[in-house]
Amino acid sequence: GRDFLTLLDFSTDEIMDLLALASDLKAKQKAGVPYKPLAGKTMAMIFEKQSTRTRVSFEVGMIQLGGQAMYLNGNDLQLGRGETIADTARVLSQYVDVIMIRTFAHQKVEELAEYASVPVINGLTDDDHPCQALADLLTIYEVKKTFQGVKLAYVGDGNNVANALLAAAAKVGMDIAIACPPGYEPKAEYVEAARRIGEKTGATVVVTHDPLEAVAGADAVYTDVWTSMGQESESAERLKVFQPYQVNEQLVKAAKPDYLFLHCLPAHRGEEVTAGVMDGPNSFVFEQAGNRLHAQKAILVSVLS
Ligand code: CP
Repeated sequence: GRDFLTLLDFSTDEIMDLLALASDLKAKQKAGVPYKPLAGKTMAMIFEKQSTRTRVSFEVGMIQLGGQAMYLNGNDLQLGRGETIADTARVLSQYVDVIMIRTFAHQKVEELAEYASVPVINGLTDDDHPCQALADLLTIYEVKKTFQGVKLAYVGDGNNVANALLAAAAKVGMDIAIACPPGYEPKAEYVEAARRIGEKTGATVVVTHDPLEAVAGADAVYTDVWTSMGQESESAERLKVFQPYQVNEQLVKAAKPDYLFLHCLPAHRGEEVTAGVMDGPNSFVFEQAGNRLHAQKAILVSVLS
């Protein structure tokens, strides 16, 4: 099986195939057609950070596919007392068929994947959130039916979600514009990779400090929390710095009238987004959260077959 660590590792065709599989699995589930290709398979899910969506959607997805998932709190494992990630990988590979991990440093997931003999799935690191980005692509594609000529605007912190969206958009040929305060840009590696990939797929990649520039003519407007897990000590400073980057009624006037509002959740109404936009008629945030289930089922079927 193959690891799922970042969308940068996947070709355009592979990502489109995953989206097609996700749509097919979603249709089966909505129609009540049982589909259990992962009967007898077990997934370990290591969490070193909190989660609602990733934890529940992966566990439910594995159950729907006929397999089983077990939640492992990083602090309850010997990993939390200093057992190495390499040994943890070697040991868990003796028991389970796939490992999902949510952690801090991206290198930790890469190391886990290097030493595991079973596929490893990145359930979020400080650098990337590929499962989220795949679900986001699915959500946009369901509405727009194409990525060509579609513009995604991301406004706020250049965090792991911004990095993942850069990779995702560039791979499928969707234009992306990111607006963030100076000093809070997405990682240079992701911006450069997205620009390189975009030259081949036709995606334009813009990073600006001007929210209006990013949102102008956008088909989708996306934001995320201003303080990510592990940054709580910076929270007061971030509240100030990000204030001009709030997605509010005024800002979204610059988007296309039928724009989709997206947010990976959890949301803080009154901070990165107003309640009016979050709960308004253009908001697809709960469909988007629902698509985590279908996108991740596609990832599981793909890495385990
Ligand atoms: N969007 C997301 O990953 O949600 P959780 O942190 O609840 O898993």
